[in-house]
Amino acid sequence: MTYFLGIETSCDETAAAVFTDDLAVRSSVVASQTDLHARFGGVVPEIASRAHLRNLLPVIDEALARAGIGVTDLGCVAVHHTPGLVGALLVGVTAAKALSLALGVPLVGVNHVAGHVFACRLAAGRDIFPCVGLVVSGGHTALFRCDTALSLELLGGTRDDAAGEAFDKVAAVLGLGFPGGPAVEREAALGNPKAHRFPRTFLDTDRLEFSFSGLKTAVLYACHGQDVAKATPPGPGQKRADLAASFQAAAVDVLAGKCKQALRQTGLKRLAVGGGVSANGPLRAALTAMCAKEGAELFIPPLSLCTDNAAMAALAVEKWKRGEFAPPDLDAEPNFI
Ligand code: KG4
Ligand code: ZN
Repeated sequence: MTYFLGIETSCDETAAAVFTDDLAVRSSVVASQTDLHARFGGVVPEIASRAHLRNLLPVIDEALARAGIGVTDLGCVAVHHTPGLVGALLVGVTAAKALSLALGVPLVGVNHVAGHVFACRLAAGRDIFPCVGLVVSGGHTALFRCDTALSLELLGGTRDDAAGEAFDKVAAVLGLGFPGGPAVEREAALGNPKAHRFPRTFLDTDRLEFSFSGLKTAVLYACHGQDVAKATPPGPGQKRADLAASFQAAAVDVLAGKCKQALRQTGLKRLAVGGGVSANGPLRAALTAMCAKEGAELFIPPLSLCTDNAAMAALAVEKWKRGEFAPPDLDAEPNFI
């Protein structure tokens, strides 16, 4: 049996996991930086990189300890090297390269977005490919045709904001704090999703693309009127809850609607969903109902595997089996490759 160490530092979670070549996850440790970024209302790249530097080695030690192994038991080091914040990725990539060189074991570079889809494979405990993959997070909103774990063909992405980014920005408009997704979901539970009819961009077209900036601006104007410059966030009350509920309903309609179109256009009967926004209860419910209607199987991992983590770097096992090792000069690549 070969033990792998997975490393994730692409954004604001410092994570390490130990897994084996039969895809059993032995440990998964995530150190969140949410508190560090909250007062800025979003992730500050420089702060994220510095926090990764402080946190990564203790997080790796903890992952090894929880798995009950020592560092010399490792047979491979895997790292998410793309896409993400370049300074943040560099911390993980540099640590992974150093470890692989010191231990004399292979290094495997993994695409973080493909990892989000692969988290569904991990949670399912069986093959899920071919499938349509929806990755919906703070940095990404995209649909893929996934013929195998390693072959992702982009069907459509977002033209502007990612869905999670829209949740975070709407949370800021409504004075709900950061990170916005869970806060908007809690507030929306108190409101009427039909109070405002917000735009569902591209939903009536065949294009498998997303755009959330118009929706975000519609919420801003519905909240403050045109005079947004002097506006202060609304306090608790029905107005705020209705805005949150109506925004969430529009975002969920678009995401579920585009997944339905992707299933129909590809003829595939499996949908795998990953990324932080897939923690959203109403989105899960809408996707469950849609897939039942379409006769498709839905894979959404438990929350710990939806948000950023290093267990999803177990996609590396697929590359390792093919002998697809990374060169010792593997670089961090901020754009999706
Ligand atoms: O995948 P993730 O942990 O990190 C990125 O790669 O971006 O996703 C974080 C995003 C944030 O924008 C956050 O607001 C959103 O996922 N999110 C949610 C929920 N939980 C997290 N969005 C909607 N509803 C939620 N319950
Ligand atoms: Zn992510």
